[in-house]
Amino acid sequence: MEQIWWKNAVGYQIYPRSFQDSNHDGIGDLNGIREKLAYLKELGIDFIWINPVNESPNVDNGYDISDYQAILTDFGTMAQFDSLLLEAHELGIKVIMDLVINHTSDQHYWFKEAKKGKSNPYRDYYIWKDGKENAAPSDWQSIFGGSVWEYDENSGQYYFHTFAKEQPDLNWENPHLREELYKMVSWWLTKGVDGFRIDAISHIKKADFDLPNTKDPKQPFKRFQNVHGIGAHLIELKKVFDQFGILTVGEASGVTAAEATTWVGKGGYFDMIFSFDHIHLWEEEKKGVDIPQFTAALAQWQEALDDGCGWNALYLENHDVPRSISTLGSDTPGLRVKSGKALALMYLFLQGTPFIYQGQEIGMVNMPFSSLEQLDAVDSRALYHRLVDSGSTPNAALEKVAKTTRDNARTPMQWDDSTYGGFSDTKPWLLVNPNKDEINVKKEQQDEESLWHFYKRLIQLRKSEIALAAGTFTNQLPQDEALFVYTRKTAEQEILVLVNLSAKEAAYTLPQLAGKNWRPLIGNTHQPPFQATGVLEPFVAFAYTVK
Ligand code: GLC
Ligand code: CA
Repeated sequence: MEQIWWKNAVGYQIYPRSFQDSNHDGIGDLNGIREKLAYLKELGIDFIWINPVNESPNVDNGYDISDYQAILTDFGTMAQFDSLLLEAHELGIKVIMDLVINHTSDQHYWFKEAKKGKSNPYRDYYIWKDGKENAAPSDWQSIFGGSVWEYDENSGQYYFHTFAKEQPDLNWENPHLREELYKMVSWWLTKGVDGFRIDAISHIKKADFDLPNTKDPKQPFKRFQNVHGIGAHLIELKKVFDQFGILTVGEASGVTAAEATTWVGKGGYFDMIFSFDHIHLWEEEKKGVDIPQFTAALAQWQEALDDGCGWNALYLENHDVPRSISTLGSDTPGLRVKSGKALALMYLFLQGTPFIYQGQEIGMVNMPFSSLEQLDAVDSRALYHRLVDSGSTPNAALEKVAKTTRDNARTPMQWDDSTYGGFSDTKPWLLVNPNKDEINVKKEQQDEESLWHFYKRLIQLRKSEIALAAGTFTNQLPQDEALFVYTRKTAEQEILVLVNLSAKEAAYTLPQLAGKNWRPLIGNTHQPPFQATGVLEPFVAFAYTVK
């Protein structure tokens, strides 16, 4: 296998606002991250991805950037950022930043200038269209709800926004704008940043604005998601990245497994991309996920990007989705840890580079939000109002929003059982989950059987077992109602993973795997010798190896 550092690495995603507060204001910050680098090292983390820390009015918590080259005061200073980078590097931890270049904040200098009028030199950095008040140029709907078009009284034109109206989209068709962005990217990379997670990058190209909105319910944002022609921009962007030899991870909603090799792999735009197929399958209405569809989505990406033609970014959680134990596993007390371990083993042993989202390693679960005031996320608040406007009772709307909101993933990190979970000594910006007495880092570290220790062992195995780093993936039981069974194989070693993803017992027969000398590698309960026919208890997960 080529010696590319990130192919053997495990990443950890930090949502800075909720990770660790160092200066008693209830908001996580850069110095808080510095304090916890040793913790990450102990877990076995090789690199961190930090959500945006740039200056921002925080309409969408940092994803609305008003100054790309300044640090938000809440988080600290540029000098503190430089120290964080240095200290991380001293510990052998690389640092990946979030690059938000589909849009800026409406408070960015460029947009403030652009709003001054049609002849302003920055006008064309954004996307403007004629239209009459109350008659938007098209019927396209934005991802956060409502029209993508926002009326600007001053000029009588509309501007385009994929997300909130305070997040105007940049006009990637303008070469001057692109040059400015590349300059900014180079500036960060010259600092020694090791890579970028590139936000919302599949939205930078728009279809012809005269087209009516798509009727396809599966792809509601088709008109501005992975639109034909996007490749030219992405290849140009890649040339900037290539000058620095960094790690690039694109957030690529709307890109299918069939298109994946254009996006990653030899000649692709990025080293890896976050795909959404498996994540989108969880639906609140269905009270869970269709397991055969879920494993098929994962397997499809594994097969499409088998080493040599690409590479996967593996994840179950991030700052945009509810906690995986609450959605894919089970947060009933007897099953929380067990299902957390099953999910961990299931995805950490796939081919690719795994990302662990803060708190996932201790089994944090969804928050019992009980009022709208407790919620922060701009899209969740908007959804609540849309539901009420369309006839839901406030209680029903709240129940729906509470289960699906990304604020579930944003409650403060639970370090110990003190009043604010060790995150801060003052009231945090978002509620601490009341289960912090039960679920916290301190407790997890003290218990050898904890989920935290299980994650640590899985990470070590990824580094010691060649088949986990380089092995080819084979789905051994496609379409099973409950189980995900796969192998990873190199010339030297084969690893077998058996996971029951359901809360029911499940039987299997795997004659194709009989007759090999499988040795137990790791499991979440007492692990029997492998048998080609057997039954797995709810959320049981085992791995075996043969050399
Ligand atoms: C991405 C981010 C999300 C943000 C959006 C707009 O999807 O992950 O948090 O709201 O882009 O920037
Ligand atoms: Ca702080």
